[in-house]
Amino acid sequence: MLFNLGVAIIAFAAVTMAIAYLAEDYLVGLRVREQLKSTNNVAVSMAPYLSSANAYKMFELAEQSSKKYGGRFLVLNKSGIVLVDSFSTLNGQKLDHKEISDVLLGPKDASYGFHEINTEDGKPFYAVYYTAAVVHDGETIGAVLFSADIQDVVDITRDFIRVLMMISIAACAMFAGVSIWLSGYITRPINDLKNVALSISRGNLHQRIHVSGKNEMAALAHTFNVMSEKLENMDKKRSEFVSNASHELKTPLSSIKILIESLLYQDGVEERIYKEFLGDINKEIDRLNDVISGLLTLARTDSETQALNIDKILLSELVFKSVTSLKPIANEKGVALNFTVNNDLEVECDALKVMQAVTNLVENAIKYTDPGGSVQVVLSKSGSDAAIAVKDTGCGIPEKDIPYLFDRFYRVDKARARDTGGSGLGLHIAQKIALLHGGSIDVQSEEGKGSVFTLYLPIKSEVKA
Ligand SMILES: Nc1ncnc2c1ncn2[C@@H]1O[C@H](COP(=O)(O)OP(=O)(O)OP(=O)(O)O)[C@@H](O)[C@H]1O
Ligand SMILES: [Mg+2]
Repeated sequence: MLFNLGVAIIAFAAVTMAIAYLAEDYLVGLRVREQLKSTNNVAVSMAPYLSSANAYKMFELAEQSSKKYGGRFLVLNKSGIVLVDSFSTLNGQKLDHKEISDVLLGPKDASYGFHEINTEDGKPFYAVYYTAAVVHDGETIGAVLFSADIQDVVDITRDFIRVLMMISIAACAMFAGVSIWLSGYITRPINDLKNVALSISRGNLHQRIHVSGKNEMAALAHTFNVMSEKLENMDKKRSEFVSNASHELKTPLSSIKILIESLLYQDGVEERIYKEFLGDINKEIDRLNDVISGLLTLARTDSETQALNIDKILLSELVFKSVTSLKPIANEKGVALNFTVNNDLEVECDALKVMQAVTNLVENAIKYTDPGGSVQVVLSKSGSDAAIAVKDTGCGIPEKDIPYLFDRFYRVDKARARDTGGSGLGLHIAQKIALLHGGSIDVQSEEGKGSVFTLYLPIKSEVKA
């Protein structure tokens, strides 16, 4: 930044100097051209007087020209000796300035040069000596020298340069100030963003950027904060999941260990007790199996979110397959299981996944309904959705538990869940599948009377990755 600023200031100063010198050149050039022309005119008028050596006329013309053009006129012969001086002080003296030899000895007809003249009061000033050849019959017979003060032009250009310098210093200062302010304005939020991103990358996921204003940077900071929040939530869910999963796996393992140790360290255990303990161990192994299968299904659902196998599916067929596969379990338990099709609908979905979701709901309905009860599955149309309602006459769910039903590992009655088995992942997986298809699951339940779980799927596919 400082480098750029330095380059800009140097460029600014160079441009200012160039303008100043161009202006000086222009003003001096204008004056020189004009006075050189006057000198030439006087030299032309002087030619007849010099050729006839008319000193009176030469002096008269020199004096008049002096007054007219504001300077000093001298007439010199071919040897550079002053014949006439409008100030009458240099008569008879030989002058040997370069401008004089330029025109007397050639090659020029006219010439000029700048001279710094020292004065008695110690205030030197600048003058220009203009010379023009006095030509008679094609021959240079002498020269006219016009000495004119140019200090006024020098003063004007010096004043101009001074003002220009002051303006450019002020402009440079303003430019530097604005640049520093602007770069701070632009880079501060970027630095904040960088620091917060760095801190997040080191694991401080709670870090957020302070958002102010409404510009693009504020929008970026806001998006960054949303992303960080999601990241933090995901991280929280991940650690919750890991601790839940470990707990779920540890509980049956601890039970198995206790059961085995009590058999191992007791002598003469009755065969009946052995069998009972082994039965319990078997149950715990089933439970472990359930948890592991649930976790595997969940992991698959998570990793396959990008790869849904979408097809046009006749829902009646899909639900029928699911219900048919669960019929033996329902029969064994003594629960009546029926399927009614109100509207046969075709939806675009991943058949295997939707079947998994339906199966989870029907499985629950059978599991949480006592023998003698019934489960009814109804397929119908609800607005732009297909609705698969699973109604049971089971134990129902307390109202306070309903908001948590779809959480991973959530089970309403933990003690009862030990008997019924299960990992508490079924509803979570079902809901995930519904969401993936742009659908949802609705729960209506009354404790002691039964529940209705309805899976809604958009008829026109709105698959969400
Ligand atoms: N139809 C239902 N009637 C009553 N309670 C239910 C019903 N469906 C679910 N629940 C309650 O919701 C909890 C969560 O259900 P979910 O299907 O997620 O887990 P689960 O059935 O215990 O185990 P699994 O992972 O094997 O399905 C159940 O433990 C149960 O308490
Ligand atoms: Mg279940």
